[in-house]
Amino acid sequence: MGFKNPSLFMIFSSLCILYSFLKLTKADPWLLVNQTSPSSNVSGGNWQLLQSSVGVSAMHLQLLPNNKVVIFDRTDFGSSNISLPPGSFCPKNDCTAHSVLYDVVSNTLRPLHVLTDTFCSSGALDPNGTLIQTGGFNEGDHVIRTFAPCGADSVACDWNELNATRLVDRRWYATNQVLPDGRIIILGGRRVFTYEFYPKNDALNNSKSFYLRFLVESRDPEENNLYPFLHLLPDGNLFIFANKKSILFDYKRDIVLKQFPLIPGDDKRNYPSTGSSVMLPLRLSGRWPPVVEVLICGGAPAGAFMKSDKMKVFVEASRTCGRLRVNDENPQWLMEAMPMPRVMSDMILLPTGDVIIINGAANGTAGWEDAVNPVLSPILYSVNAQLSQRFTVLSPSKVPRMYHSTAILLPDGRILVAGSNPHTTYVFTGLYPTELSLEAYNPFYLDAKFNSLRPSIISVESGSTVSYGRRFGVSFSVSLFRQGTVSVALIWPSFTTHSTGMSQRMVVLNTASVVQLSMANFKLVVDGPTNANVAPPGYYMLFVVHSGIPSHAVWVKVM
Ligand SMILES: *[C@@H]1O[C@H](CO)[C@@H](O)[C@H](O)[C@H]1NC(C)=O
Ligand SMILES: *[C@@H]1O[C@H](CO)[C@@H](O)[C@H](O)[C@H]1NC(C)=O
Ligand SMILES: *[C@@H]1O[C@H](CO)[C@@H](O)[C@H](O)[C@H]1NC(C)=O
Ligand SMILES: *[C@@H]1O[C@H](CO)[C@@H](O)[C@H](O)[C@H]1NC(C)=O
Ligand SMILES: *[C@@H]1O[C@H](CO)[C@@H](O)[C@H](O)[C@H]1NC(C)=O
Ligand SMILES: *[C@@H]1O[C@H](CO)[C@@H](O)[C@H](O)[C@H]1NC(C)=O
Ligand SMILES: *[C@@H]1O[C@H](CO)[C@@H](O)[C@H](O)[C@H]1NC(C)=O
Repeated sequence: MGFKNPSLFMIFSSLCILYSFLKLTKADPWLLVNQTSPSSNVSGGNWQLLQSSVGVSAMHLQLLPNNKVVIFDRTDFGSSNISLPPGSFCPKNDCTAHSVLYDVVSNTLRPLHVLTDTFCSSGALDPNGTLIQTGGFNEGDHVIRTFAPCGADSVACDWNELNATRLVDRRWYATNQVLPDGRIIILGGRRVFTYEFYPKNDALNNSKSFYLRFLVESRDPEENNLYPFLHLLPDGNLFIFANKKSILFDYKRDIVLKQFPLIPGDDKRNYPSTGSSVMLPLRLSGRWPPVVEVLICGGAPAGAFMKSDKMKVFVEASRTCGRLRVNDENPQWLMEAMPMPRVMSDMILLPTGDVIIINGAANGTAGWEDAVNPVLSPILYSVNAQLSQRFTVLSPSKVPRMYHSTAILLPDGRILVAGSNPHTTYVFTGLYPTELSLEAYNPFYLDAKFNSLRPSIISVESGSTVSYGRRFGVSFSVSLFRQGTVSVALIWPSFTTHSTGMSQRMVVLNTASVVQLSMANFKLVVDGPTNANVAPPGYYMLFVVHSGIPSHAVWVKVM
């Protein structure tokens, strides 16, 4: 239907929102668990400025297995603050870079050449550690780009944009997940209700896209279902969450196996009412299959986006987290109140198995200039603490990290925090200016007072590969050993944008034994991940965690 008069359209869409709002308020009453006392005495950690400007605003981040981070923004707004090297090809007469490669160890960077528009795109590492990055906007919306890590920092190591292979459908605000067979699924996107796979291969029907009705059903007049949350479960199926709905999906047979209950309350959880989600660590000792829990925090109430985007009225963001035991017979959401409302936060699995909630704002939604009231303090969510004692408010940053900000875990246990640009171009004046700086947040476990408990990895017996189900040893040193408090965790480096940590997962291996080799040296004998559903093939950060304090990680390839 066509609206000649824009105010008629406004009334119509407001009615639609009102209708969906009324429908939802009729839901069953639900119990909210409030915080009654602080969960722990951990210190609030501290912040470190790494770079005052990396030249681009970090809309997207990917850590590679060579400890370099691919940082990129979009290409459709004019100049960034970093030039391409002399002699570079300048697409659209723009000789600035929209991507840089950041070296974590030396804290240095160099500009990269990304040609087509990567605005609001998606990605995942493939089993070889190559970033497969998909879609974007304008001429970039069907483009597949790759970035292969290179050993010595050769300047030849740069973006590669594929010509012969393109996405079947436009992918703008899609989510990717690496699969047990090494393929990558690319699901959803704006006004696209399908999924597809990479690599493309006719024999495997990979050259088609597949309609998924859920992507239509989870859409409302504000959308609120973009960048859906995807988690690969140990049974090989996908958990897909969008807006307030979630399903168990068999992507191999294109069948929805189960619908989970709606997450209670009015709050929407996906873009532009952007919340965040993690699958809690999969623990491989004890029962099989392991308990699988998904945690979703923050977002915004129904109607919040129309108010912020059209009227610049910024309602309070969601205060709640929902936690669901996905493989229960009748899963029910457990709702917990955060210490403050939050939208556009990133959720990151720490090597300790707990979760950091970082970045974002307390009012408004995602979208251009659509949020105010930055939340500067990260929160620690202690996964196994007593109910009502799980949240700890941590030390605040000084830098607002609003729309288009990002955060990822680094192999040394720090959190890399970057980006924030709620404006359509780079703007360095006024409220929430474009943020080009790079910071690290150092969680409590990096405090020097834990040095005697901090393990240090000496070697991984199997070299740098870990085989499914195969036992291997990890030797480490620690000065003050405490029996029974040591484990090995594998963490997949997520592709992060718009509060979505794509493919993020953590697996805690089964420990067979711990042997003391000398005064301060120990060997932990553990079993490789059960299978590729638990841990898809590829590169992981391997941490030894002793008495709640993680080592620095070494990279291993699971295959
Ligand atoms: C938690 O707090 C909310 C808002 O103050 C209140 O409505 C709710 O009853 C509380 N829940 C419990 C279990 O006390
Ligand atoms: C925190 O420290 C206080 C005082 O030292 C102590 O009473 C309390 O039990 C501690 N809380 C936790 C959760 O460890
Ligand atoms: C980016 O470049 C502009 C124009 O040269 C300058 O005004 C601004 O201060 C720079 N911003 C940062 C953070 O370096
Ligand atoms: C990984 O690299 C190997 C060896 O170069 C190659 O044969 C294989 O096709 C690559 N796999 C993927 C998924 O790119
Ligand atoms: C890809 O396309 C560009 C421009 O059309 C062309 O210059 C380049 O040679 C092509 N690359 C390959 C590998 O085909
Ligand atoms: C590919 O699709 C066709 C028709 O949709 C189906 O008959 C065939 O089994 C599929 N092949 C594979 C490998 O999934
Ligand atoms: C944020 O939301 C609260 C609750 O609705 C409101 O009282 C406050 O004024 C809002 N803050 C801003 C800056 O709009």
